[in-house]
Amino acid sequence: MINNKTIEKFRKIETPFYYYDLEVLRSTLEVVKKESDISGYKVHYAVKANSNARILKIISSYGFGADCVSFNEINAAITAGFNPSEIVFAGVGKTDKDINAALKADILCFNCESIPEIEVIDQLAANQGKTARIALRINPYIEAYTHKYITTGIEESKFGINTWEIEDVTKKLSDFKNIKLIGIHFHIGSQITRMSVFKSLCARINELQEWFSSHNILLEIVNVGGGLGIDYENPEKNPDFREYFSLLNEFIDLLPGQELHIEPGRSITGQCGSLISKVLFIKNGSNTLFAILDAGMTDLIRPALYQAHHKIENLTSTGNIYRYDVVGPVCESSDTFAKYIELPETSRGDIIAIRSAGAYGEAMASRYNLRDLPKSVFSDEI
Ligand code: LLP
Repeated sequence: MINNKTIEKFRKIETPFYYYDLEVLRSTLEVVKKESDISGYKVHYAVKANSNARILKIISSYGFGADCVSFNEINAAITAGFNPSEIVFAGVGKTDKDINAALKADILCFNCESIPEIEVIDQLAANQGKTARIALRINPYIEAYTHKYITTGIEESKFGINTWEIEDVTKKLSDFKNIKLIGIHFHIGSQITRMSVFKSLCARINELQEWFSSHNILLEIVNVGGGLGIDYENPEKNPDFREYFSLLNEFIDLLPGQELHIEPGRSITGQCGSLISKVLFIKNGSNTLFAILDAGMTDLIRPALYQAHHKIENLTSTGNIYRYDVVGPVCESSDTFAKYIELPETSRGDIIAIRSAGAYGEAMASRYNLRDLPKSVFSDEI
Protein backbone atom coordinates (compact mmCIF):
# COMPACT_ATOMS: atom_id res chain seq x y z
CA MET A 1 0.00 0.00 0.00
CA ILE A 2 1.23 3.45 -0.83
CA ASN A 3 0.30 5.52 2.25
CA ASN A 4 1.32 8.95 3.53
CA LYS A 5 4.43 7.56 5.18
CA THR A 6 5.53 5.96 1.93
CA ILE A 7 4.87 9.20 0.06
CA GLU A 8 7.06 11.15 2.51
CA LYS A 9 9.84 8.63 1.85
CA PHE A 10 9.32 8.92 -1.91
CA ARG A 11 10.08 12.66 -1.61
CA LYS A 12 13.65 11.83 -0.60
CA ILE A 13 14.38 9.38 -3.41
CA GLU A 14 15.63 10.46 -6.81
CA THR A 15 12.92 9.89 -9.41
CA PRO A 16 11.96 8.14 -11.60
CA PHE A 17 12.09 4.72 -10.00
CA TYR A 18 10.08 1.53 -9.83
CA TYR A 19 8.53 0.95 -6.44
CA TYR A 20 7.77 -2.68 -5.68
CA ASP A 21 5.35 -3.46 -2.91
CA LEU A 22 6.57 -6.84 -1.70
CA GLU A 23 3.46 -7.46 0.36
CA VAL A 24 1.38 -7.22 -2.80
CA LEU A 25 3.81 -9.51 -4.65
CA ARG A 26 3.79 -12.08 -1.86
CA SER A 27 0.02 -12.03 -1.51
CA THR A 28 -0.33 -12.66 -5.27
CA LEU A 29 2.23 -15.46 -5.09
CA GLU A 30 0.40 -17.05 -2.18
CA VAL A 31 -2.86 -17.17 -4.11
CA VAL A 32 -1.14 -18.65 -7.16
CA LYS A 33 0.69 -21.18 -5.01
CA LYS A 34 -2.50 -22.20 -3.24
CA GLU A 35 -4.54 -22.57 -6.42
CA SER A 36 -1.78 -24.38 -8.31
CA ASP A 37 -1.21 -26.76 -5.41
CA ILE A 38 -4.92 -27.62 -5.36
CA SER A 39 -4.95 -28.41 -9.07
CA GLY A 40 -1.46 -29.92 -9.18
CA TYR A 41 -0.48 -27.67 -12.09
CA LYS A 42 3.12 -26.54 -12.43
CA VAL A 43 3.73 -22.79 -12.61
CA HIS A 44 6.62 -21.50 -14.70
CA TYR A 45 6.92 -17.76 -14.10
CA ALA A 46 7.52 -15.88 -17.38
CA VAL A 47 10.75 -14.08 -16.53
CA LYS A 48 10.33 -11.57 -19.37
CA ALA A 49 7.58 -9.81 -17.42
CA ASN A 50 10.02 -8.74 -14.72
CA SER A 51 13.56 -10.04 -14.37
CA ASN A 52 14.59 -7.83 -11.45
CA ALA A 53 16.94 -10.02 -9.37
CA ARG A 54 15.13 -9.42 -6.06
CA ILE A 55 11.71 -10.10 -7.60
CA LEU A 56 13.01 -13.31 -9.21
CA LYS A 57 14.44 -14.47 -5.90
CA ILE A 58 11.12 -13.99 -4.14
CA ILE A 59 9.21 -15.80 -6.89
CA SER A 60 11.66 -18.72 -6.93
CA SER A 61 11.22 -19.14 -3.16
CA TYR A 62 7.63 -20.25 -3.85
CA GLY A 63 8.95 -23.30 -5.68
CA PHE A 64 7.87 -22.22 -9.15
CA GLY A 65 9.72 -22.97 -12.36
CA ALA A 66 10.68 -20.37 -14.96
CA ASP A 67 9.82 -19.65 -18.58
CA CYS A 68 12.72 -17.89 -20.32
CA VAL A 69 13.39 -16.47 -23.78
CA SER A 70 17.15 -16.05 -23.75
CA PHE A 71 20.08 -17.62 -22.00
CA ASN A 72 20.55 -14.38 -20.07
CA GLU A 73 17.07 -14.93 -18.64
CA ILE A 74 17.90 -18.58 -17.89
CA ASN A 75 21.05 -17.44 -16.13
CA ALA A 76 19.19 -14.79 -14.14
CA ALA A 77 16.62 -17.41 -13.14
CA ILE A 78 19.27 -19.92 -12.04
CA THR A 79 21.11 -17.20 -10.08
CA ALA A 80 17.83 -16.32 -8.36
CA GLY A 81 17.38 -19.91 -7.22
CA PHE A 82 15.18 -21.47 -9.92
CA ASN A 83 16.08 -25.07 -10.56
CA PRO A 84 17.37 -25.68 -14.14
CA SER A 85 15.22 -28.82 -14.25
CA GLU A 86 12.20 -26.52 -13.97
CA ILE A 87 13.21 -24.01 -16.62
CA VAL A 88 11.77 -23.95 -20.14
CA PHE A 89 13.28 -22.04 -23.02
CA ALA A 90 10.86 -20.48 -25.51
CA GLY A 91 11.38 -18.17 -28.46
CA VAL A 92 11.00 -18.24 -32.21
CA GLY A 93 14.67 -17.33 -32.81
CA LYS A 94 17.03 -19.04 -30.41
CA THR A 95 20.71 -18.46 -31.19
CA ASP A 96 23.25 -21.29 -31.30
CA LYS A 97 25.10 -19.68 -28.40
CA ASP A 98 21.94 -19.66 -26.26
CA ILE A 99 20.95 -23.20 -27.25
CA ASN A 100 24.43 -24.49 -26.36
CA ALA A 101 24.38 -22.75 -23.01
CA ALA A 102 20.87 -24.05 -22.24
CA LEU A 103 21.95 -27.59 -23.15
CA LYS A 104 24.91 -27.27 -20.80
CA ALA A 105 22.64 -26.02 -18.03
CA ASP A 106 20.43 -29.10 -18.58
CA ILE A 107 17.11 -27.23 -18.56
CA LEU A 108 13.79 -29.05 -18.57
CA CYS A 109 12.73 -28.31 -22.11
CA PHE A 110 13.08 -26.26 -25.30
CA ASN A 111 9.74 -25.04 -26.58
CA CYS A 112 10.29 -25.32 -30.33
CA GLU A 113 8.58 -23.42 -33.09
CA SER A 114 9.90 -24.81 -36.39
CA ILE A 115 11.64 -27.77 -38.04
CA PRO A 116 14.80 -25.73 -38.80
CA GLU A 117 15.04 -24.88 -35.10
CA ILE A 118 14.65 -28.53 -34.05
CA GLU A 119 17.32 -29.51 -36.60
CA VAL A 120 19.79 -27.08 -35.07
CA ILE A 121 19.00 -28.15 -31.50
CA ASP A 122 19.48 -31.78 -32.55
CA GLN A 123 22.92 -31.01 -34.06
CA LEU A 124 24.07 -28.95 -31.10
CA ALA A 125 22.84 -31.59 -28.65
CA ALA A 126 24.71 -34.28 -30.65
CA ASN A 127 27.90 -32.17 -30.42
CA GLN A 128 27.53 -32.15 -26.64
CA GLY A 129 26.57 -35.83 -26.50
CA LYS A 130 23.20 -34.91 -25.01
CA THR A 131 19.53 -35.44 -25.69
CA ALA A 132 17.46 -32.26 -25.79
CA ARG A 133 13.95 -32.47 -24.41
CA ILE A 134 11.55 -30.47 -26.51
CA ALA A 135 7.92 -29.44 -26.62
CA LEU A 136 6.23 -28.35 -29.83
CA ARG A 137 4.73 -24.90 -29.63
CA ILE A 138 1.59 -25.22 -31.67
CA ASN A 139 -0.36 -22.32 -33.09
CA PRO A 140 -3.97 -23.13 -32.19
CA TYR A 141 -5.54 -20.31 -34.26
CA ILE A 142 -7.41 -18.70 -31.42
CA GLU A 143 -8.25 -15.03 -31.30
CA ALA A 144 -7.18 -13.65 -27.93
CA TYR A 145 -9.11 -10.35 -28.17
CA THR A 146 -6.20 -8.29 -26.95
CA HIS A 147 -3.86 -5.73 -28.56
CA LYS A 148 -2.59 -6.92 -31.95
CA TYR A 149 1.05 -6.62 -30.86
CA ILE A 150 0.47 -9.15 -28.07
CA THR A 151 -1.72 -11.56 -30.01
CA THR A 152 0.30 -14.63 -30.89
CA GLY A 153 -1.97 -17.52 -31.71
CA ILE A 154 -3.71 -16.53 -34.93
CA GLU A 155 -3.04 -17.57 -38.51
CA GLU A 156 0.12 -16.12 -40.09
CA SER A 157 1.58 -15.27 -36.72
CA LYS A 158 5.35 -15.83 -36.60
CA PHE A 159 4.82 -17.96 -33.51
CA GLY A 160 4.26 -21.67 -33.26
CA ILE A 161 4.00 -24.62 -35.58
CA ASN A 162 0.91 -24.58 -37.81
CA THR A 163 -1.54 -27.39 -37.21
CA TRP A 164 -1.16 -28.50 -40.85
CA GLU A 165 2.57 -29.00 -40.22
CA ILE A 166 2.25 -31.19 -37.13
CA GLU A 167 2.14 -34.47 -39.02
CA ASP A 168 5.24 -33.55 -41.00
CA VAL A 169 7.10 -32.37 -37.90
CA THR A 170 6.33 -35.47 -35.86
CA LYS A 171 7.38 -37.73 -38.77
CA LYS A 172 10.70 -35.89 -39.03
CA LEU A 173 11.32 -36.24 -35.29
CA SER A 174 12.40 -39.84 -35.75
CA ASP A 175 15.36 -38.54 -37.85
CA PHE A 176 16.59 -36.50 -34.94
CA LYS A 177 18.58 -38.81 -32.70
CA ASN A 178 19.30 -36.26 -30.01
CA ILE A 179 15.79 -34.96 -29.52
CA LYS A 180 13.10 -36.27 -27.20
CA LEU A 181 9.58 -34.93 -27.58
CA ILE A 182 8.03 -34.51 -24.13
CA GLY A 183 5.17 -32.12 -24.61
CA ILE A 184 3.09 -29.57 -26.44
CA HIS A 185 3.11 -25.86 -25.74
CA PHE A 186 0.72 -23.00 -26.48
CA HIS A 187 0.71 -19.27 -25.86
CA ILE A 188 -1.99 -17.32 -27.63
CA GLY A 189 -1.41 -13.81 -26.35
CA SER A 190 -1.12 -11.57 -23.34
CA GLN A 191 -3.48 -9.40 -21.27
CA ILE A 192 -6.36 -11.74 -22.07
CA THR A 193 -9.41 -10.71 -20.07
CA ARG A 194 -12.09 -12.88 -21.66
CA MET A 195 -12.06 -16.23 -19.88
CA SER A 196 -13.91 -17.77 -22.86
CA VAL A 197 -10.64 -17.45 -24.84
CA PHE A 198 -8.95 -19.93 -22.49
CA LYS A 199 -11.97 -22.21 -22.79
CA SER A 200 -11.57 -22.25 -26.59
CA LEU A 201 -7.87 -23.01 -26.10
CA CYS A 202 -8.72 -26.00 -23.89
CA ALA A 203 -11.11 -27.37 -26.53
CA ARG A 204 -8.42 -27.02 -29.20
CA ILE A 205 -5.85 -28.72 -26.97
CA ASN A 206 -8.21 -31.65 -26.43
CA GLU A 207 -8.59 -32.10 -30.20
CA LEU A 208 -4.83 -32.01 -30.67
CA GLN A 209 -4.31 -34.45 -27.81
CA GLU A 210 -6.62 -36.87 -29.63
CA TRP A 211 -4.51 -36.53 -32.74
CA PHE A 212 -1.28 -37.27 -30.82
CA SER A 213 -2.87 -40.24 -29.03
CA SER A 214 -4.18 -41.69 -32.27
CA HIS A 215 -0.63 -41.54 -33.62
CA ASN A 216 0.72 -43.24 -30.50
CA ILE A 217 2.72 -40.20 -29.49
CA LEU A 218 2.94 -39.93 -25.73
CA LEU A 219 3.16 -36.48 -24.25
CA GLU A 220 4.20 -35.95 -20.63
CA ILE A 221 3.50 -32.23 -20.55
CA VAL A 222 0.78 -29.92 -21.79
CA ASN A 223 1.85 -26.30 -21.39
CA VAL A 224 -0.86 -23.68 -21.92
CA GLY A 225 1.45 -20.65 -21.70
CA GLY A 226 0.60 -17.38 -20.02
CA GLY A 227 -1.75 -14.60 -20.94
CA LEU A 228 -4.04 -14.08 -17.97
CA GLY A 229 -4.84 -10.37 -17.94
CA ILE A 230 -4.91 -7.94 -15.01
CA ASP A 231 -7.27 -5.09 -14.14
CA TYR A 232 -5.38 -1.88 -14.92
CA GLU A 233 -8.20 0.17 -13.35
CA ASN A 234 -7.80 -1.60 -9.99
CA PRO A 235 -4.04 -1.86 -9.57
CA GLU A 236 -3.84 -4.04 -6.47
CA LYS A 237 -6.59 -6.46 -7.44
CA ASN A 238 -5.42 -9.91 -8.47
CA PRO A 239 -7.00 -11.56 -11.46
CA ASP A 240 -9.38 -14.36 -10.60
CA PHE A 241 -6.81 -17.14 -10.35
CA ARG A 242 -9.37 -19.51 -8.88
CA GLU A 243 -11.64 -19.09 -11.90
CA TYR A 244 -8.68 -19.52 -14.25
CA PHE A 245 -7.44 -22.72 -12.59
CA SER A 246 -10.99 -24.12 -12.30
CA LEU A 247 -11.56 -23.44 -15.97
CA LEU A 248 -8.40 -25.32 -16.95
CA ASN A 249 -9.38 -28.09 -14.61
CA GLU A 250 -12.85 -28.37 -16.05
CA PHE A 251 -12.07 -28.04 -19.74
CA ILE A 252 -8.70 -29.69 -20.36
CA ASP A 253 -8.78 -33.46 -20.62
CA LEU A 254 -5.39 -34.52 -19.36
CA LEU A 255 -4.31 -38.07 -20.03
CA PRO A 256 -3.17 -40.27 -17.15
CA GLY A 257 0.26 -39.19 -15.90
CA GLN A 258 0.27 -35.94 -17.88
CA GLU A 259 1.37 -32.69 -16.21
CA LEU A 260 -0.21 -29.34 -16.95
CA HIS A 261 2.13 -26.34 -16.97
CA ILE A 262 1.26 -22.66 -17.07
CA GLU A 263 3.48 -19.63 -17.69
CA PRO A 264 1.98 -16.55 -16.06
CA GLY A 265 4.04 -13.39 -16.18
CA ARG A 266 1.96 -10.22 -15.96
CA SER A 267 -0.59 -11.65 -13.54
CA ILE A 268 2.20 -12.39 -11.03
CA THR A 269 4.22 -9.17 -11.05
CA GLY A 270 1.95 -6.55 -12.66
CA GLN A 271 0.10 -5.56 -9.51
CA CYS A 272 3.11 -5.02 -7.23
CA GLY A 273 4.93 -2.33 -9.22
CA SER A 274 4.42 1.40 -9.70
CA LEU A 275 6.57 3.81 -11.64
CA ILE A 276 7.16 6.79 -9.37
CA SER A 277 7.95 10.08 -11.00
CA LYS A 278 8.02 13.83 -10.32
CA VAL A 279 6.32 16.56 -12.28
CA LEU A 280 8.94 18.75 -13.94
CA PHE A 281 6.69 21.36 -15.48
CA ILE A 282 3.09 22.17 -16.23
CA LYS A 283 2.81 23.55 -19.72
CA ASN A 284 -0.19 25.18 -21.37
CA GLY A 285 -1.16 24.11 -24.88
CA SER A 286 -3.92 25.99 -26.66
CA ASN A 287 -6.52 23.60 -25.28
CA THR A 288 -4.46 21.19 -23.22
CA LEU A 289 -2.63 21.22 -19.93
CA PHE A 290 0.49 19.10 -20.15
CA ALA A 291 1.95 17.57 -17.01
CA ILE A 292 5.55 16.87 -18.02
CA LEU A 293 7.12 14.12 -15.90
CA ASP A 294 10.71 13.11 -15.34
CA ALA A 295 9.68 9.54 -16.32
CA GLY A 296 9.24 8.78 -19.97
CA MET A 297 8.65 6.03 -22.49
CA THR A 298 12.19 4.80 -21.82
CA ASP A 299 11.05 3.86 -18.31
CA LEU A 300 7.62 2.50 -19.25
CA ILE A 301 6.98 1.95 -22.94
CA ARG A 302 3.58 0.24 -22.73
CA PRO A 303 1.40 3.33 -23.34
CA ALA A 304 3.54 4.39 -26.33
CA LEU A 305 3.80 0.91 -27.82
CA TYR A 306 0.39 -0.63 -27.15
CA GLN A 307 -1.73 2.42 -26.29
CA ALA A 308 -1.90 0.73 -22.89
CA HIS A 309 -3.87 2.27 -20.06
CA HIS A 310 -2.19 2.59 -16.66
CA LYS A 311 -3.91 4.31 -13.78
CA ILE A 312 -2.10 7.54 -12.90
CA GLU A 313 -2.29 9.12 -9.46
CA ASN A 314 -0.97 12.40 -8.13
CA LEU A 315 0.16 11.34 -4.66
CA THR A 316 0.82 14.84 -3.34
CA SER A 317 -2.13 17.01 -4.36
CA THR A 318 -5.70 17.17 -3.17
CA GLY A 319 -6.63 20.26 -5.20
CA ASN A 320 -9.47 20.80 -7.64
CA ILE A 321 -9.75 18.38 -10.49
CA TYR A 322 -8.40 19.39 -13.90
CA ARG A 323 -7.71 17.46 -17.07
CA TYR A 324 -4.11 16.84 -18.15
CA ASP A 325 -2.14 15.09 -20.81
CA VAL A 326 0.54 13.29 -18.82
CA VAL A 327 3.71 13.13 -20.88
CA GLY A 328 7.39 12.26 -20.59
CA PRO A 329 10.50 14.23 -21.59
CA VAL A 330 11.60 12.04 -24.52
CA CYS A 331 11.76 13.57 -28.00
CA GLU A 332 8.82 11.57 -29.40
CA SER A 333 5.15 12.54 -29.49
CA SER A 334 4.30 8.97 -28.51
CA ASP A 335 6.01 9.64 -25.16
CA THR A 336 2.60 10.14 -23.62
CA PHE A 337 1.35 8.18 -20.62
CA ALA A 338 -2.27 9.32 -20.82
CA LYS A 339 -4.38 11.94 -22.54
CA TYR A 340 -7.00 14.20 -21.02
CA ILE A 341 -7.18 12.44 -17.67
CA GLU A 342 -8.52 13.88 -14.46
CA LEU A 343 -5.97 14.72 -11.77
CA PRO A 344 -6.09 17.03 -8.75
CA GLU A 345 -4.41 20.34 -9.57
CA THR A 346 -0.87 19.35 -10.42
CA SER A 347 2.29 21.40 -10.02
CA ARG A 348 6.06 21.13 -10.34
CA GLY A 349 7.45 18.70 -7.77
CA ASP A 350 4.27 16.67 -7.30
CA ILE A 351 4.83 12.95 -7.07
CA ILE A 352 3.03 10.84 -9.64
CA ALA A 353 2.48 7.09 -9.47
CA ILE A 354 1.86 5.15 -12.66
CA ARG A 355 0.29 1.98 -11.38
CA SER A 356 0.22 -1.70 -12.46
CA ALA A 357 3.73 -1.31 -13.83
CA GLY A 358 5.34 -4.38 -12.26
CA ALA A 359 5.13 -6.37 -15.49
CA TYR A 360 6.75 -5.28 -18.77
CA GLY A 361 7.79 -2.01 -17.14
CA GLU A 362 11.34 -2.16 -15.82
CA ALA A 363 11.96 -5.18 -18.05
CA MET A 364 11.31 -3.13 -21.20
CA ALA A 365 13.16 0.02 -20.15
CA SER A 366 15.72 1.41 -22.59
CA ARG A 367 18.43 4.03 -22.68
CA TYR A 368 17.04 5.98 -25.64
CA ASN A 369 18.14 9.63 -25.44
CA LEU A 370 20.93 8.20 -23.22
CA ARG A 371 18.59 8.40 -20.30
CA ASP A 372 19.48 6.48 -17.15
CA LEU A 373 17.70 3.19 -16.61
CA PRO A 374 15.09 3.44 -13.85
CA LYS A 375 16.16 2.14 -10.47
CA SER A 376 14.11 -0.11 -8.25
CA VAL A 377 13.05 0.51 -4.67
CA PHE A 378 11.43 -2.15 -2.49
CA SER A 379 8.79 -1.58 0.14
CA ASP A 380 10.92 -3.17 2.87
CA GLU A 381 13.85 -0.84 2.17
CA ILE A 382 12.15 2.46 2.90
N1 LLP B 1 4.77 -17.69 -22.23
C1 LLP B 1 5.19 -17.25 -23.43
C2 LLP B 1 5.67 -18.21 -24.42
C3 LLP B 1 5.14 -15.88 -23.73
O1 LLP B 1 5.55 -15.46 -24.92
C4 LLP B 1 4.67 -14.97 -22.76
C5 LLP B 1 4.60 -13.53 -23.03
C6 LLP B 1 4.26 -15.48 -21.51
C7 LLP B 1 4.32 -16.84 -21.28
C8 LLP B 1 3.74 -14.60 -20.40
O2 LLP B 1 2.55 -13.99 -20.75
P1 LLP B 1 1.74 -13.11 -19.67
O3 LLP B 1 1.22 -14.05 -18.64
O4 LLP B 1 2.66 -12.12 -19.12
O5 LLP B 1 0.66 -12.50 -20.50
N2 LLP B 1 5.24 -6.59 -23.53
C9 LLP B 1 3.83 -6.91 -23.66
C10 LLP B 1 3.55 -8.35 -23.34
C11 LLP B 1 4.32 -9.32 -24.21
C12 LLP B 1 4.08 -10.75 -23.83
C13 LLP B 1 5.00 -11.66 -24.54
N3 LLP B 1 4.90 -13.04 -24.18
C14 LLP B 1 3.03 -5.97 -22.76
O6 LLP B 1 3.62 -5.12 -22.11
O7 LLP B 1 1.81 -6.05 -22.74
